[in-house]
Amino acid sequence: MSTLQDLIPVVNKLQDILTSTNLTELDLPILSVIGSQSAGKSSVLENIVGKDFLPRGTGIVTRRPLILQLINIKAGDPLIDRKAGVTTDLDSEPDTETLEEHLRYFSGGNREDSKQPIKEWGEFLHIPGKRFYNFDNVKHEIEKETARVAGKNKGISRIPINLKVYSPNVLNLTMVDLPGLTKIPIGDQPTDIERQITNLVLEYISKPNSIILAVTPANVDLVNSEALKLARQVDPRGDRTIGILSKLDLMDRGTNAMDILTGKVYPLKLGFIGVVNRSQQDIASNKALEDSIDAEKQFFQTHPAYRSISSRCGTAYLAKTLNRILMNHIRDRLPDIKAKLNTLIGQAEQNLATYGDQLCVTEENRGTLILQLMTKFSTGFITSIDGTSSEIST
Ligand code: GDP
Ligand code: NA
Ligand code: MG
Repeated sequence: MSTLQDLIPVVNKLQDILTSTNLTELDLPILSVIGSQSAGKSSVLENIVGKDFLPRGTGIVTRRPLILQLINIKAGDPLIDRKAGVTTDLDSEPDTETLEEHLRYFSGGNREDSKQPIKEWGEFLHIPGKRFYNFDNVKHEIEKETARVAGKNKGISRIPINLKVYSPNVLNLTMVDLPGLTKIPIGDQPTDIERQITNLVLEYISKPNSIILAVTPANVDLVNSEALKLARQVDPRGDRTIGILSKLDLMDRGTNAMDILTGKVYPLKLGFIGVVNRSQQDIASNKALEDSIDAEKQFFQTHPAYRSISSRCGTAYLAKTLNRILMNHIRDRLPDIKAKLNTLIGQAEQNLATYGDQLCVTEENRGTLILQLMTKFSTGFITSIDGTSSEIST
């Protein structure tokens, strides 16, 4: 019996197809991270992924939306075992980064051995078929691709970068890292930078099926939270906003955020979760992410106030919560998604009737081929959603 969790890869695949066809009618659930500049958005995302790969730091670092799909892989998954000649319909054979990395990967001894760690890697939509095993290279590619489109001097662009991370250590999530909310133009930024970033953020969070991760640093008064202000514009009842309180380690001694974390200050149905990310000093001294997660756990468990709620604090709890919210969200949206898919499939069928289905990929028929693929996916998707055979036949 398939669970909703099994559906997430299908949803992600569909999302890829939609991104490459500009068919945006289908709004899939997405988690958007928002907040003022340097609130800790990229740090939060990175902690959830469990990998160092996002450019982070003081000042405006994130200058294009980054759409990040986390895909959980397990031992024996055909995706990770290409050596045995197992094929997959997801990708063409990858072009690995360097021969050296390729050899290191494929000569890693007996890969049936369960002690052999499973590799994790990233793939960009703008470089199809290339696996990045080294996450420093993922970070460099994000920086390079940001500069290519948004320039080198602090400009921003609304065109997203799409990155998938395959790993045994992630939950299945799709997230967007967004440029920080800022007021004063610097570098190549236009005079109306505040409005431009606000509009860009609103574009993502106004979709009714998006979940808003509103990051506010705990050393800033909550009433001044740019993230909560913007989230409230599109989600006035606080139904789909989750509050993330970062920098709990930087609060003044003797103060704590218990009132906020226990929901007494600001009403959000999904609540607030406190986190402690790496400081700039930790980043400078290359503090390992695992050490930072351990330190965070330690922080909550030994804190005089937070230890009473420590099981509901921190990055691990945040990741678990997000996955649960995402499942419920997909479940709630299924009737709507299904109706939209029916429409898209109707259109696809008309196109197929026009062009026939003996297709080879050329520039002209690419769209049709994608629609055909989509029909295939959508049908499987709908069938697996409600367990009944779909009324759509291909
Ligand atoms: P973004 O601009 O919102 O994406 O923020 P970043 O993730 O790039 O973080 C901005 C700066 O704040 C970096 O120097 C981080 O090291 C630091 N930072 C983020 N979260 C925390 C935290 O929880 N505690 C501490 N001490 N520093 C943090
Ligand atoms: Na920053
Ligand atoms: Mg950032």
